[in-house]
Amino acid sequence: MRKLEIYPPIMNACGILSYLSVFEHLEELGADVGAWIPKSIGPREKQGNENPVIHFNGSVLMNSMALPSMSPDDFEKELREYRGETPLIISHYGETPDDYARSVARFDKYCIAHEINISCPNFVPGEKSILEKLEPAEVLREVRKETDKPVIAKLSPSDNYIGIAQQIVDYVDYINCGNTLARGLEIEPYSGRAYLAGTFGGLSGEAIRPITTRMVYDMYKSFGNRIGIIATGGISKPDHIISYARAGASLFQIGTALHKNSTFTAFFLRNIWKDVEEILKAINVKSIDEIVGVNFVG
Ligand SMILES: Cc1cc2nc3c(=O)[nH]c(=O)nc-3n(C[C@H](O)[C@H](O)[C@H](O)COP(=O)(O)O)c2cc1C
Repeated sequence: MRKLEIYPPIMNACGILSYLSVFEHLEELGADVGAWIPKSIGPREKQGNENPVIHFNGSVLMNSMALPSMSPDDFEKELREYRGETPLIISHYGETPDDYARSVARFDKYCIAHEINISCPNFVPGEKSILEKLEPAEVLREVRKETDKPVIAKLSPSDNYIGIAQQIVDYVDYINCGNTLARGLEIEPYSGRAYLAGTFGGLSGEAIRPITTRMVYDMYKSFGNRIGIIATGGISKPDHIISYARAGASLFQIGTALHKNSTFTAFFLRNIWKDVEEILKAINVKSIDEIVGVNFVG
């Protein structure tokens, strides 16, 4: 397993704070993360669903973005101009295994690791989901040939995640648990229309954290230290990071909790890891690695 050495071991979740200029701005405001992840890049420019693509019902965020993407050429231009100090992890999606492999090869020099999005549960009506189009093992086998850097496969709690992980475990270094939970429907009562233009949307935020904690736990129980686990889902407090570590995760991504203004986000990302370390000290734990997957009573 190739280890992803970042400090602090936290990142934004892909698709939240999508652009490199935003990352630079947050750094100027004092944000402190181990890596930034720009929005998933696809094989060609794509619009995704019409607006509205985001609906927050007070408990859960739903999105039906369906992977809008800039063109790979425009993305590379942005990468060349990136002046931030924090390293990047690049998230890729495609329609064929070759799309993923080409994207990984092309952008390898700009990042410290690759995240392979095979789990986005949102698509434009009429389109198929990524997993309906592709064999995960074929995608990850092709990707593995193109890079010596850590490869992360991002799965969703609504997929058969252990089954998929068994097929790809030899090609990946980390599993990201996980993408949004597929897929919800909310209907506006007076007009009778779905709130989301794409009708259905993936769920994220606080409400899904018990589901993704279960996913991390299942993954750790199945694979132990053979792969690393990234926890993504509903993190909004330092305690959530510690609980995820106990379930088996060693790296952490924060998405929906960052859907605020940039001052709040920078402040939050400057302090959350410091607070984790304070809590660890208070419970006599020297490093979070000491509690990964080993300090959990079921
Ligand atoms: C508006 C929005 C856009 C997203 N776009 C992507 C994406 O492009 N690629 C991806 O892998 N995940 C994407 N995600 C999923 C998040 O990275 C994350 O897995 C999910 O939101 C759960 O984490 P959270 O509860 O902290 O938000 C998106 C989520 C949201 C809410």
